Amino acid sequence: MSFGIVHVAYILAALMFIMALAGLSKQETAKLGCMSGIVGMVIALVATFSEVETGQGFTFIVAAMVIGGCIGLYVARKVAMTQMPEMIACLHSFVGLAAVLVGYNSFLEIGIVAPTTVTIPANASIAQINELLDAAKNVAEAANSAIPPGELGIHLAEIFLGIFIGAVTFTGSIVAYGKLNGTYKLSIFKSAPLTLPGGNWLNLGALVISLTLMIWFLVEEQPSIACLIIMTIIAFLFGIHLVAAIGGADMPVVISMLNSYSGWAAAASGFMLDNDLLIVTGALVGSSGAILSYIMCKAMNRSFISVIAGGFGNAPVSQKEEEMGEYRELKAPEVADLLKNSSSVIIAPGYGMAVAQAQNAVASLTEKLKARGIEVRFAIHPVAGRLPGHMNVLLAEAKVPYDIVLEMDEINDDFENTDTVLVIGANDTVNPAAAEDPTSPIAGMPVLEVWKAHNVVVFKRSMNPGYAGVQNPLFFKDNSAMCFGDAKKTVEEIVAAIGD
Ligand code: TAP
Repeated sequence: MSFGIVHVAYILAALMFIMALAGLSKQETAKLGCMSGIVGMVIALVATFSEVETGQGFTFIVAAMVIGGCIGLYVARKVAMTQMPEMIACLHSFVGLAAVLVGYNSFLEIGIVAPTTVTIPANASIAQINELLDAAKNVAEAANSAIPPGELGIHLAEIFLGIFIGAVTFTGSIVAYGKLNGTYKLSIFKSAPLTLPGGNWLNLGALVISLTLMIWFLVEEQPSIACLIIMTIIAFLFGIHLVAAIGGADMPVVISMLNSYSGWAAAASGFMLDNDLLIVTGALVGSSGAILSYIMCKAMNRSFISVIAGGFGNAPVSQKEEEMGEYRELKAPEVADLLKNSSSVIIAPGYGMAVAQAQNAVASLTEKLKARGIEVRFAIHPVAGRLPGHMNVLLAEAKVPYDIVLEMDEINDDFENTDTVLVIGANDTVNPAAAEDPTSPIAGMPVLEVWKAHNVVVFKRSMNPGYAGVQNPLFFKDNSAMCFGDAKKTVEEIVAAIGD
């Protein structure tokens, strides 16, 4: 493909990526958005691939694409919806590592050479001296020819920043993966924040040392790879500490923050490789990730800085179950009776509905109740589940009509006029301690005010706390009852008990 066609293809791909983001912002257009992204990526790959010259590199690229494509296809088909955040964290770590490798490669490619020492014989003529000096100059110019002298400083800064952001993204994403996975024993992978003494000073120290190294790297006549290596080690440790210090309930923000970092790392790689599409795509991912982080911080009433500086869990530990009092229990047939006698019902789903794969049973229950003339609506908390929009996707999959699925702000005032609320596998997102207990680790986080309804039934398997590790006073309120068991099984029993 000619250079012009490749550039047109890049612009087309960038437009498709913008359309993908626009499409993904609404449930109705999400599929179209996904398609635009796929088409854009195919165009980008074909255009980039067409620039590769046939030879040994060509074979390597084809082999890497086939192997990578197969792994991607296998993992994407196998991964459960509830494991999506882990997979996203894993993919971010690849972007980070790629930025580090591209950075080192770009540095080695520049091949900056030391001022050449020229030995001039004592009896050399002026012409011979000039000849020797010209030869030395040519050697140096040939080695540095890739970058015009004026742009060398900018290129070196791109390399330094690209490696730094990439290294932080790489290790930060690995820790995020471990925390979300929850099966590793290392303390950096625990849901509770890792609090080292003077943690914020450590972070600040890492940033100051890295900045000093960057200045040194840029002003040195012969930039040394040692600066890059020391900075990379610091950035790796910084990434680990940054994410390990964040508590479980802040993980959604961390994931979108790492998403943003991976975008900036890709954009930095784009500058290093002089690839416009990579710059545009990286900037799109970087800015959309930053906007999403901001929206989520707002949804959780957290300031971005306080999330980065250390997560929930630093506050005093909340009350234990036994200090909260007694709870009531209802069996499925009793819940069915309660529902039959209600005229309005709100369902607040959470992570447990996803784990139990109860969305189809919940959709059947909705149909049953609607057929009896009972008003049924869904209340969606912005961070319910394990990734933004998790609940919306599950409900859409079960064909629940969009118009009865409402966001927290749209429905929060309606709970007090509602007969029955079914909390299906949700916990942190309906915890009244956030609104009522200033000492709670989740104090200030906006929650669905389900406890204001006349009756609340909580579906879960035990009295265990939710993701943030905070006990929930909702379970012990007079108008609340627990319905224990796997959410899918319990909802199916209720559907059967309601009858026709
Ligand atoms: P959680 O607070 O995690 O509570 C889920 C509840 O579901 C648990 O209490 C669990 O209790 C129950 N459960 C699990 N499996 C179940 C099953 N098979 N049947 C019935 N119940 C089951 O969920 P949430 O209210 O949706 O809150 C989300 C939390 O995750 C927030 O803290 C949020 O910050 C965090 N988070 C969110 C995201 C995003 S972006 N949405 C990403 C990462 C983390 P039992 O074990 O007793 O059954």
